[in-house]
Amino acid sequence: MDKKTVGLSDTFKGKTAPKSFTKNPIKGTKFTIAISSAKGGVGKSTFAMNFALALKSIGFKVGILDADIYGPSLPKMMSINEKPKSEDGKSLVPINQYGVQCMSIGFLVDEETPMIWRGPMVTSAIKTFTQKVLWSNLDFIVIDMPPGTGDTQLTFAQEIKVDGVIIVSTPQAIALLDVKRGIKMFDKLKVPILGLVDNMSFFQSDDGKNYNIFGEGGVEKVADEYKKEFLGKIPINIDLRVAADDGKPLVEKNPDHKISKIFIELANKVKGSFL
Ligand SMILES: Nc1ncnc2c1ncn2[C@@H]1O[C@H](COP(=O)(O)OP(=O)(O)OP(=O)(O)O)[C@@H](O)[C@H]1O
Ligand SMILES: [Mg+2]
Repeated sequence: MDKKTVGLSDTFKGKTAPKSFTKNPIKGTKFTIAISSAKGGVGKSTFAMNFALALKSIGFKVGILDADIYGPSLPKMMSINEKPKSEDGKSLVPINQYGVQCMSIGFLVDEETPMIWRGPMVTSAIKTFTQKVLWSNLDFIVIDMPPGTGDTQLTFAQEIKVDGVIIVSTPQAIALLDVKRGIKMFDKLKVPILGLVDNMSFFQSDDGKNYNIFGEGGVEKVADEYKKEFLGKIPINIDLRVAADDGKPLVEKNPDHKISKIFIELANKVKGSFL
């Protein structure tokens, strides 16, 4: 007698099985590096622009993707006022500035678009930026992420092949709690963490004295605790802030500046993880 086993239908199995995601690489680039922090205002965008220009200065072809749908910074920090063009009505051509291919959600979203409309746009915007932008022959794309551990981070981590993430933080206790949350999220989503950066680490006065305005060594301690690489410290520096506000990142404006040299050293360090 035939024994019939009672099993779940294929449709039902599909619905209950753990979701698996296909991670697509961003077309037109070899490696994708995301710049993240769980906390806002710690200098991610400043870091992302200068780090991208540092990679360019050591000979790589680089793109920057500003994925911060709530507060895009690239148009201002890189002085771009034009909108990207489309030659075939289906794909967008990135805007070239300072020898770097740039794309920002800020090119497409009106500054006055209410926040409540932006959330649902995240997933489709990310798909457009990663699959429908004609990034051309890049070694690296640097992604400037929004703060937090929300939809953008999740979509990137699950659907896009992110080769590494750099976590930027300031050293005070309240920011470090968020760093830990960020580390746990990327570990869980199996996105490799390239390392942690301590931004606004200290302020050096004209007489050479260092002031640890946000505390000392906090980011390095978290890196140790979670067995992640500590990539380095970037001090609070007025020239870095002014250059960002003026729309020409310091590494581009003055590559010989002591702060630019820190970015170039970091770019050389990170390069070692890939090549
Ligand atoms: N090391 C630094 N020294 C001086 N100013 C800095 C430094 N890093 C960042 N800033 C300044 O701090 C402000 C916030 O930086 P930025 O916009 O890069 O942060 P963010 O983490 O991207 O913020 P958000 O979470 O809103 O995206 C900017 O005015 C920037 O110029
Ligand atoms: Mg930012």
